[in-house]
Amino acid sequence: MRYIGDELYYVGYSDRKIKLFENYIPLNFGVSYNSYLIVDNKTCLLDTVDFSVVREFISDVKVALNGKKLDYLIVNHMEPDHAASILEVVKEFKDVKIVTNAYVLKLLNQFFDYNFNDITIIVKENDTINLGKHELTFITAPFVHWPEVMFTYDKNFKTLFSADAFGSFGALSGNLFYDEVDDPTYFMEARRYYTNIVGKYGKQVVNAYLKIKDLDIKMICPLHSYLWRKDFNLLIDKYVKWATYEAEAKEVILIYASMYGNTEKAAMLLADELANKGLKNIKCYDVSNVDETYLIGEIFRVSHIVFLSPTYNANLYPRIKALVDQMQVLDVKNKTFALVENSTWAPRANSLLEEELNKLKDINIIKTKVSIKSALKEDTSLDVKGLASLIAESILK
Ligand code: FEO
Repeated sequence: MRYIGDELYYVGYSDRKIKLFENYIPLNFGVSYNSYLIVDNKTCLLDTVDFSVVREFISDVKVALNGKKLDYLIVNHMEPDHAASILEVVKEFKDVKIVTNAYVLKLLNQFFDYNFNDITIIVKENDTINLGKHELTFITAPFVHWPEVMFTYDKNFKTLFSADAFGSFGALSGNLFYDEVDDPTYFMEARRYYTNIVGKYGKQVVNAYLKIKDLDIKMICPLHSYLWRKDFNLLIDKYVKWATYEAEAKEVILIYASMYGNTEKAAMLLADELANKGLKNIKCYDVSNVDETYLIGEIFRVSHIVFLSPTYNANLYPRIKALVDQMQVLDVKNKTFALVENSTWAPRANSLLEEELNKLKDINIIKTKVSIKSALKEDTSLDVKGLASLIAESILK
């Protein structure tokens, strides 16, 4: 628990034991569940934490309250990484009123075997509650990341409690603010968090951004990772790009599948040739050895993606297929692709990939595709070099 200032406490908790976020996304640096407490004339908790840390959380809230009762619990988001401990709060702090929107109330009654109706104050867009010095306004932000989500804005202290927006993976280690750390993994993890979790809802993220962009904001308090009190543009610029599917860099990544090393060899030749053409920051990823969630982050980041894939059971290589399926789910758009296939007897990978990629919007597939038979030979090496020229031309133009 930390006192931030202006009657505001951080009562979140970091989890370094969790291996998979949502039991799906690998976490190498843990995750924080951020919760905030305002101790004004009225006291107000903003969201709770994952159930795994509920005991520590309740204890910290009690210490921060210092004998005062808890008046309000604002629920901005009902996903259980923030909402699973709500019932414990209600049981512990008998007088608490939940302040939230009607959609959240519906989900509360779905998740818990408890009737929340009598203890909930329903708020709508731009409604306010006054705590004393702090006046809180509610701003709906549907699908950032679930439909019930809202932001809470503290008008007098210019603080935005932004739910999942502007969050990231990564446990916090004492320093609560991004400006207090030199964290080289931050934007990779923030991108991976956004793209895999909220990525599908770019349009709704833009709508939420339009609602808050003219607010006077001095501090952003998300539900995960660092709080922000300066350099907002660093973060907002990334968010706008991710939400509008605009590449952060005119760069190329190569994603390959290779059972016996032959397709990998083609990927290495292509990467060398792209480097010879002057391209920078080329990245090669073996789809079998890099988690899909990292690849999704990279796909959002760059303008150009090359797939190099064997045909497998007359179909796409399973991990390539799974990745492309996920790109469709997340509505990836506005990319240029190049294709290389490898097949020993019945080449289908390029045509199948083209069919799948064409289901994405605003994409371009470089017309010239390379087809390797089992292993690179002189003619197909020339084809790979030719493709490198076309990719370089497309990037450098
Ligand atoms: Fe961090 Fe959508 O929950």
